[in-house]
Amino acid sequence: MADEKPAMVCGIDLGTTNSAIAFIDEHGKAQVIQNTDNERITPSVVLFEEEEVIVGKIAKNSAVAAPDRVVQFVKRHIGEEGWVKTFFGKEYTPETISALILKRIVQDAETVSGRKVGSVVITVPAYFNEVERKATQDAGTIAGLNVVSILNEPTAAALAYGMDKLGEKRRVLVYDLGGGTFDVTIIEIDGAKIDVLATDGERRLGGIDWDDEIINMVAEKFQAEHGIDPRSDMEACQDLRNKAEDAKISLSKLDKVRILCQCQGKSTKVELTRDDFEKLTKGLLGQTETYLGVVLEKAKLAWKDIGTVLLVGGMTRMPAVVQMIERVTALKPETGINPDECVAMGAAFYNAVLALQAKPAEEPELALQGEALKESIEEDVLILLQEVEVTNVNSHSLGIIGVRRTDMKVVAHKMIPKNTPIPVDVTKPFGTEKPNQVSVMIKVVEGESDNPEDCTQIGTCEIRDLPAGRPAGSLIDVTYAYSVDGRLQVIAKDRVSGREAKVEIVRTSGMGEKEIVAAQKDVVDMEVG
Ligand SMILES: Nc1ncnc2c1ncn2[C@@H]1O[C@H](COP(=O)(O)OP(=O)(O)OP(=O)(O)O)[C@@H](O)[C@H]1O
Ligand SMILES: [Mg+2]
Repeated sequence: MADEKPAMVCGIDLGTTNSAIAFIDEHGKAQVIQNTDNERITPSVVLFEEEEVIVGKIAKNSAVAAPDRVVQFVKRHIGEEGWVKTFFGKEYTPETISALILKRIVQDAETVSGRKVGSVVITVPAYFNEVERKATQDAGTIAGLNVVSILNEPTAAALAYGMDKLGEKRRVLVYDLGGGTFDVTIIEIDGAKIDVLATDGERRLGGIDWDDEIINMVAEKFQAEHGIDPRSDMEACQDLRNKAEDAKISLSKLDKVRILCQCQGKSTKVELTRDDFEKLTKGLLGQTETYLGVVLEKAKLAWKDIGTVLLVGGMTRMPAVVQMIERVTALKPETGINPDECVAMGAAFYNAVLALQAKPAEEPELALQGEALKESIEEDVLILLQEVEVTNVNSHSLGIIGVRRTDMKVVAHKMIPKNTPIPVDVTKPFGTEKPNQVSVMIKVVEGESDNPEDCTQIGTCEIRDLPAGRPAGSLIDVTYAYSVDGRLQVIAKDRVSGREAKVEIVRTSGMGEKEIVAAQKDVVDMEVG
């Protein structure tokens, strides 16, 4: 029975369009667990019914008939303050909707495997900021899961690819184009050390945008013919969205497809060739190409320094993506990994790494799972897993607002530029603005611009009761200490008096502790199928 076998050590790829779960088997290999529809990936689509919630294929198929009760692409809203959907008098945040997707995936994995899901590692795009990471972790908590870590998707992909190649030194470029997000990451594998050298991308660039180009083109033809815009009719628009996605997928294999657009009893047939589709979406692919160069430069490397290109995400099945990458990098992308499954597999590996390295005194539950793994996994794999070390970089710059001496302009000064390996500690001196200044307010911002208005303020740190009567320009040392789990500690220290102020900037997602507990109860009670 389920409880007799040890709980599984799992990894979950919570995707914009599809999600997947993998576990570490008795040989130490990561295996994807099918869902109860016998599929290896589950659409991240939720249908709200009066008495229950349906997740996956059926929900996706219902999107045309009941577009007002279906939520898709919720990952695009995770961490977004104030975004809620109401169904049958109840409000749902992106975290709760994501929790419902997680609940179905975990429930299915337990049914299919006959084992419990123990700890989980959930992946996020490398470009997610702290708020989005925290919201993803909260989604797991709401689903009742023991989320031991949040891992970057490209790092997970590199782990899945590199597990049997650890020991060799190589640099891997990961190009990840999924349904909703895009990032490029350069990773160095050296021995059992996996270092992220640089990462960049677009939080909102993915398959949906390619689909939108087809939708717009077809809708405009339809409008010219019938005077109606199918995009303004919810049902017709959803129907067109499905057909556009089907057409895009077919064009990865076929030279030509036909799209039938129907709305209010009228119809238009549009023929689309792969050539025309590639022209239509040239700008989107071009955006991704730009990032290849940006990330290479940030890693201070040349293409000859890159040994392997990994393609991740369903969109990399498009021939145009492969051709562009081959043209730019002069490398043939690795074909040995499955772009839909490698992220969940890598996350499962990482969970095993954490379980094997867990100290019983600090993380008893996780350490226990590690013990169970030790009993089953073969010696050589075990040694590898025990040695794996993953380091990351920060994906957004952290700065401080201050007056620039050269032109007296108020600017956001970067303390920790993005792509800095973490953990990191940076101290810089700042002078007081006015004479006799007895307090200083430090404004902490996130963002790439030096214009404070284009950055997001994420916290403040105030140092008070400084000695009176001092001139302007008296020095305060400001330290930003950024930890691996994304927490930022800000310390301000007056050089002369030694007076100090310290704050930890804990960025809250839209949900507080109490709300999370309440949502957890709700989700536990909900029937999810
Ligand atoms: N053969 C194919 N050709 C072109 N596009 C495809 C193909 N197969 C899947 N896709 C597209 O890939 C996207 C889904 O990819 P994937 O499942 O990797 O995304 P995701 O993990 O849900 O998203 P993200 O990683 O952005 O959160 C969809 O837009 C889908 O239409
Ligand atoms: Mg993905």
